[in-house]
Amino acid sequence: MEKYERISELQLKLSELRKSKTIGFVPTMGALHQGHLSLIDKCKSMCNITVASIFVNPTQFNDKNDYRRYPRTLEKDGEILEKAGCDIVFVPSEKEIYPETDERIFDFGELDKVMEGKFRQGHFNGVAQVVSRLFDIVNPDKAFFGQKDFQQVSIIKNMVKQLNLTTEIVVCPIVREQDGLAMSSRNMLLSDNQRKEAINISQALFYAKQQAPGTPVNEIRDEAIRRINSSPELKVEYLEIVDANTLQTVSGWDDATEIFACVAVQAGKIRLIDNVQLK
Ligand code: PAF
Repeated sequence: MEKYERISELQLKLSELRKSKTIGFVPTMGALHQGHLSLIDKCKSMCNITVASIFVNPTQFNDKNDYRRYPRTLEKDGEILEKAGCDIVFVPSEKEIYPETDERIFDFGELDKVMEGKFRQGHFNGVAQVVSRLFDIVNPDKAFFGQKDFQQVSIIKNMVKQLNLTTEIVVCPIVREQDGLAMSSRNMLLSDNQRKEAINISQALFYAKQQAPGTPVNEIRDEAIRRINSSPELKVEYLEIVDANTLQTVSGWDDATEIFACVAVQAGKIRLIDNVQLK
């Protein structure tokens, strides 16, 4: 695996490779786990060259402490990527990505007014800034994202449309721990007790899936929230049952063709998200 820190050197290498090979891209913020590896595997199966990036993007953190606390395990990440067969890793500095302050403001209509967008003001603008910048640098044929960040996927697809980019967005399924907890870089920050109780998040979503579509939407939502909040360490920030296309809440099962339950939970200072398709 080759490692690049400078855009100019990475682009020189990629322009050579692009003559005969397809380029796949897996952007990450590091602290890699099986979820990321599933993206690398998918990328390797669909593209000739797999490029991963590791950059903890400051502009997508609305909470400075969250940015400070975000796990950074660069050396281990390098070993994991190497073992997974990643071809190139791009590890830029903040100055390399943002030589000047990125002032761009994206308009995502209603997509970023709900759920994560409502509770993490400016988060998706920061995601769009960094992903568009990385796409501009890598110019991948395909880019791979996890379904766990359900709303992020919608935002990125919308951004690709707005900017007329040709990169195809490939969405990969959530990878879960054996007990059902969705894999996340933040899981390593949980205390033993928080980690034990965190299984209630996916269990509440699986309960919702079991009940749909026989039970009214609001009843399922209220009961799923109650189940999570019954754990002393957990507090639901939001649990919404939404139309997968518009991300707006539905009130009945006929309101949309694809319906997801999306949840964000505070486990002490750690924020966890998860989702499951109900219809
Ligand atoms: O999902 C993530 O890890 C980040 O939001 C991303 C897409 C790498 C942008 O910083």
